[in-house]
Amino acid sequence: MRKKVFIDTMGCQMNKSDTERMLGMLSCIGYDSTEIPEDADLLMINTCSIRQLSEDKAFSEIGTWGQWKKHGKKIKIAFCGCVAQQKQDEIFKRAPYVDLVLGTHNIKMLPNLIKELENGAKHVCQCEETNAIYDTLPEDEIKRVKSINAWIPITEGCNNFCTYCIVPYTRGRERSHSPQSIITEAKTALQNGFKEITLLGQNVDSYGKDFKDREYRLADLLEELNNIEGKFRIRFVTSYPSDITDKLIETVVKCDKVCEYFHIPMQSGSSEVLKKMNRRYNREEYSQIVKKIRSQVPDVTITSDFIAGFPGETEEQFAETLSAMEELELDYSNTAAYSPREKTVAAKWTDKYIPDDVKTERLKRLNDKNKECCLKSNQKYVGRELSVLIENFENHKGKNIITGRTRNNKIVHIPCDKDMTGEFVNVKITNAKTWYINGELV
Ligand code: SAH
Ligand code: SF4
Ligand code: F3S
Repeated sequence: MRKKVFIDTMGCQMNKSDTERMLGMLSCIGYDSTEIPEDADLLMINTCSIRQLSEDKAFSEIGTWGQWKKHGKKIKIAFCGCVAQQKQDEIFKRAPYVDLVLGTHNIKMLPNLIKELENGAKHVCQCEETNAIYDTLPEDEIKRVKSINAWIPITEGCNNFCTYCIVPYTRGRERSHSPQSIITEAKTALQNGFKEITLLGQNVDSYGKDFKDREYRLADLLEELNNIEGKFRIRFVTSYPSDITDKLIETVVKCDKVCEYFHIPMQSGSSEVLKKMNRRYNREEYSQIVKKIRSQVPDVTITSDFIAGFPGETEEQFAETLSAMEELELDYSNTAAYSPREKTVAAKWTDKYIPDDVKTERLKRLNDKNKECCLKSNQKYVGRELSVLIENFENHKGKNIITGRTRNNKIVHIPCDKDMTGEFVNVKITNAKTWYINGELV
């Protein structure tokens, strides 16, 4: 009889993509996924360690599962992802009811490890840092979340070592998937009905740097994907500011399927803070890149990430972040208060830590500025007619609506009684809210 697996996915898109791959492999060995943890034989958590809060959440979540096990429920518990890679077998000390700890480098071993558990093994830990690159799994070994967008990792890991960031420690060195495997994966996803391909990497502009025998970079990959027959969209995240090449910008303009959207985290508006963060650009250079993209890519959306309260950040330096957001008219930003992460360089600067209340207050001002920027950005489109790819049919405040995204990644709500998920529709924008825009079918 087939068994059931429940998985809680806590991290970024890369983490979600790993979940899809793990569910696919588990399906091949007899596990169907369930949304109801109480029904599962195997409970998995795919963790994120970007901030302390996400790490703490992981442990509190599995506490409940531990209780079920203590009360005699016959379940297996697997702890996966970035916290697993970072803490390894220490996890058994904190949560002895965990059966398997699986790091980010060894996902492909999951079916064998589950078999080991089924055969009675206890406290299995597989976190060896292999820096292996597992090229594409057969598509039937990926259980993609049912949506219109397929995520395809193109690079793994990161070599940048920004002083605040844990990712280089949890994901290992930067390595690229082969173009062949990415293109095959994209073609299969499109044949299976997906309408959008999003290429994933911590720094997608580094794609191909590790190919010894050929000069093949992100722009080449985009061009090749753009040549695949059919109506679909292509996106790529995340871009590292100073690695964005002229060729990449030209490619976005030239390739009709590649969307006008760049996610380029700035992190801080102060050149001094950026230096301490070990980011390889200053405020002026970041501004130049944004201006260059805006001048060449019509209607482009540029989004960013910012950290408030990095160690040593002065009020003046923080104010430079607010002014950068406004000056550069950033369309949307992810924001966070600095959280010290074990092993990272900045975490050692304890004498420079910003008090929690100051961080919280700065984060609030950052969020307020972000809201202003988002609304302003959305208002630019009122009265325009845009193409929207529909992602959902839902009831919003008592009315049937379809929701989707424009090419430049704006979320649009449209009144409609028919489920049009997966269709491209033309929409007249009627008014703008902070987080989305309203429109009507034309
Ligand atoms: N590769 C991407 C970011 C990946 S992590 C890049 O280079 O921009 C996603 C975001 O989490 C980062 O952009 C950063 O803003 C935030 N982040 C990372 N470490 C953090 C920390 N220690 N505290 C608070 N936010 C952090
Ligand atoms: Fe982290 Fe910096 Fe790498 Fe992004 S580029 S993942 S912020 S180390
Ligand atoms: Fe992603 Fe969190 Fe790991 S952001 S790479 S899941 S630390």
